[in-house]
Amino acid sequence: MSSYVITGVSGVLGFEFLRQISQDPSNTVIGLVRDKASTEKKVSEQLSGRSNIHILQADLTDYEAMQRAVADTAKITGGTLDHLIANAAYVSTWDSYDPIGVLGNTPEKLEEEMLKCFKVNVVGNVHLFNLFMPLVLRGRAKKVVSISSGTSDIDPARQYDVAVFSAYAISKAALNLAVAKFSAQYRKDGVLFMSICPGMVEAGHHANATPEQLRKLEGVLAKFKSYAPHFTGPTRPEDAIRDVISVWERASVENGDGGSFVSHHGNKQWL
Ligand SMILES: NC(=O)c1ccc[n+]([C@@H]2O[C@H](COP(=O)([O-])OP(=O)(O)OC[C@H]3O[C@@H](n4cnc5c(N)ncnc54)[C@H](OP(=O)(O)O)[C@@H]3O)[C@@H](O)[C@H]2O)c1
Repeated sequence: MSSYVITGVSGVLGFEFLRQISQDPSNTVIGLVRDKASTEKKVSEQLSGRSNIHILQADLTDYEAMQRAVADTAKITGGTLDHLIANAAYVSTWDSYDPIGVLGNTPEKLEEEMLKCFKVNVVGNVHLFNLFMPLVLRGRAKKVVSISSGTSDIDPARQYDVAVFSAYAISKAALNLAVAKFSAQYRKDGVLFMSICPGMVEAGHHANATPEQLRKLEGVLAKFKSYAPHFTGPTRPEDAIRDVISVWERASVENGDGGSFVSHHGNKQWL
């Protein structure tokens, strides 16, 4: 019997976390979303009868809404929280097709995207962690997991010249370090903070891409294939999320996983 708060359960991977974790009726699963009504509708249509699911409204950039979500979570769980899963993110697609130098041809738009990525993915999650810490410290599992991205690892970026995803990847790199800072503070209290990348998962992010953008994306996927010759394209959400959950279930402060950044394989192999 465990309690979970998962952000962004309206999205593809977030909903899959919600689905898999709430399969066990002894788990209490609280999903944070921006649009409560539409997510509750989706839950009632696709996960009907799961009374262990609770949906709360909170935008990561709305500090007061997050405070209310913490208070509402405490009422549901009795003031504790076992797992906090920071899954929500601003996933920029504007930066997916061109290198950072080309994005710089529209400096205002580049600045807007970078600040939005930083505001949601870094500052929003830092507030999320701070606000939920009192509940996590009273929880049993004491696990805080950030859903990160292998695009933020410097080594493959430089070895394979992956010049795209700049604003998004830079914000995820900052988030990885924020997670390590939280681990540095709370490891002594037995709280595991870690970042896990789910791999490249089919989530429809490029559904509206133009033929030219898709051609550019093909070039990126070719680089992914040279990095991981077994790579055949995005994986299914159900497989990726099963793997991510098994990574955090195996991880512990005692094993030295605090502050780490790993893939759905539990290592630095991102695909
Ligand atoms: N798909 C992949 O291949 C992949 C690879 C590596 C990492 N990831 C990571 O996996 C996580 C989930 O991504 P996904 O692929 O499932 O994308 P997604 O379907 O676009 O889901 C993103 C979620 O974040 C929420 N969100 C965005 N801005 C928010 C804000 N300001 N406040 C609160 N929630 C906000 C969205 O809510 P709304 O519905 O309200 O917009 C949505 O629920 C992200 O952290 C992403 O970086 C994904």
